[in-house]
Amino acid sequence: MILKHQTSGSGQPLVLVHGFPLHAGMWRDQLSGLSDIAQVVAVDLRGHGHSPIGEEPFTMELFADDLAETIDSLKLGPVHLGALSMGGYVAFAFWRRYPDRVRSMILCDTKAEADGPDAQAARDATAKTVREEGIEAIWSGLGPKLLGKDPSEEVTETLRQIVLACDPEAAALDALAMKQRPDSTGTLPTISVPSLWIHGVDDQLMAPDAARASAKAMPDCEFVEIPDAGHMAPLENPEAANEAIRRHLKRA
Ligand code: MLT
Repeated sequence: MILKHQTSGSGQPLVLVHGFPLHAGMWRDQLSGLSDIAQVVAVDLRGHGHSPIGEEPFTMELFADDLAETIDSLKLGPVHLGALSMGGYVAFAFWRRYPDRVRSMILCDTKAEADGPDAQAARDATAKTVREEGIEAIWSGLGPKLLGKDPSEEVTETLRQIVLACDPEAAALDALAMKQRPDSTGTLPTISVPSLWIHGVDDQLMAPDAARASAKAMPDCEFVEIPDAGHMAPLENPEAANEAIRRHLKRA
């Protein structure tokens, strides 16, 4: 599937993949703040934003195939691939399948480990809840955990609108796809391209220390902790996130 996307700027291609249960709009400050140095392309994964949901159950590999089809259709060539959280799981799958299309990697607030049994059970519960109660139930449970210690009202409201726009069935399919995703820790040492890992210092969902260790397992990865930010570092502190990405693009 060729994915709907938002784009800005020109130059080296920077393709951005959102997290759960979001859409390309979470990258608004990268679309506006990096357009002077890159062609920024923020995709809507299938079922999210403006992309159709399709007919198959979601998997990280299916998302990666969609991404490859989209990159090819736009003739972007090897890209800088930026991805947050669930987007990071897609990026690991993409690297395993299409390494020749990756010029560099930018991982944000994600992790390489697969779900353990408790997390897998929680995915089933998430899918059931969102199917029965709607997307508001996801916002009530997950919303406060997505942001750091002292989020602004504006960022909270922006994120709320993005979450509430998610089709409940897509959120359920996301949860079931994340439940089944493979462990990517063995992939980390194979990521030979220049990489950047940015992580909000107050990420409540994924501990910065574990992320730092994962970044260390990659052959050429700089780890940058983003202050005043939680799990949504590029949205919560775009100045610091964009500065790190800008430096990375120059280096890569
Ligand atoms: C995300 O932000 O994409 C999710 O929190 C990832 C996850 O639940 O594993």
